[in-house]
Amino acid sequence: MDTTVDGTTPGRGAEPVRLDPFGRDQHAENARLRAAGPAVLVELPGGVVVWAITHHDTLQALLADPRVGKNAQLWTTFREGRLPPGWPLLNFVTVPGMVTADGEDHRRLRGLVSQAFTPRRIADLAPAIEARTVALLDAVAELDGPFDLREHFAYPLPMQVIGELLGLALEQQDALHELSDTLVSSSATPEAAIAAQQGLFALLGAVVAAKRAEPGDDLTTDLIAARESGDRLSEAELVGTLLLMLVAGHETTLNLITNAVRALLAHPDQLRLVLDGEQPWSAVVEETLRYDSPVGQFPLRYATEDIEVGDVVIRRGEALLASYAAAGRDAGHHPDADRFDLTRQPNRHLSLGHGPHFCLGSGLARLEAETALRHLFGRFPGLTLAEGAEPEPITSFVSNSVRTLRVTV
Ligand code: HEM
Repeated sequence: MDTTVDGTTPGRGAEPVRLDPFGRDQHAENARLRAAGPAVLVELPGGVVVWAITHHDTLQALLADPRVGKNAQLWTTFREGRLPPGWPLLNFVTVPGMVTADGEDHRRLRGLVSQAFTPRRIADLAPAIEARTVALLDAVAELDGPFDLREHFAYPLPMQVIGELLGLALEQQDALHELSDTLVSSSATPEAAIAAQQGLFALLGAVVAAKRAEPGDDLTTDLIAARESGDRLSEAELVGTLLLMLVAGHETTLNLITNAVRALLAHPDQLRLVLDGEQPWSAVVEETLRYDSPVGQFPLRYATEDIEVGDVVIRRGEALLASYAAAGRDAGHHPDADRFDLTRQPNRHLSLGHGPHFCLGSGLARLEAETALRHLFGRFPGLTLAEGAEPEPITSFVSNSVRTLRVTV
């Protein structure tokens, strides 16, 4: 696969670093990338070359830079049809909706959904989130011996919450989760990536048809109504928006809860600070977001003109990867960055994004994670990691967490 990179601009002489599609040790890989500079050429699966933005300050600036857009038509490699068939990251680039839109288009798409995420609406969800958390912990308490906290607690909580917001039936949720796991994987085979995309669109299309026939009190029904009254969402945008809400609404929070429990169990002195009331649960959530960002790297953005970054120039039409996990451990911004430290002040991370595409669900994610951690450790203060092998990472550099987290209560 050829690239848009010409090998003549300063900083381009070096071979691009090949990113491990399995994300086996993201923090070690990120340390190498940060050392190479704030903007580093990396090779994604399929030989696609993009700029990874790995330093906090540079990432913050580029996320809000009007010369950087998200519409895939801005990317020369995409526009010229040079991506390999079944490219595993294609969905991130092409899904119709706010995450791939700029300017007025972005404001329209985001505006339609944002009414569901006002601070007031989120606060209203608190009692339901508490009740679901308690019910899941009741079920966990019945389990015999060590269990996978990710499967039994960290996954069902955010999935049930977003499922209820969108009006999805319980039996639809597991099927959607499996497909969405393949979708966020950067190592899926082309066949699996295509099948997952088709499966998700088919399932969500069926959800839309069912809600159209029988409207409910949920976000899907509201989005259909918004579309039909003002003709503001096309059918593709409607399904794309549901897909985005579903994937963004559970994969990330699932990782956040898992990563927070893992970090606390590995740092008992920090856990003690919270259990003794010296630090709030919100400090655990913020420090976990920085230290072990649930979104490792997010594809993609595109330069609409040449942009100088340090001693390299990102050319118009080239793509950028937002390296959130790398920025979180940037010692140039966060002193002693590899240390999990709940007393860190200030703790201004970028792990929920920045600029016009700042995470729409940040309030919900924070509420869910805080509620989950408070109840989990309140009920099982002696929670420990189960004996056995080190947990394996998720096979993705987009999603940053472990596949299982076996614990004993
Ligand atoms: C710990 C949990 C979460 C993390 C770490 C997270 C992280 C992020 C990040 C980094 C972005 C920016 C992506 C980019 O353009 O580079 C983003 C955008 C977004 N997030 Fe989240 N997110 C979380 C939870 C949620 C939840 C619960 C929802 C919804 C229910 C949600 C919905 C969205 C949406 C819709 C966008 C796109 C916004 C736009 O393009 O304007 N996220 N999120």
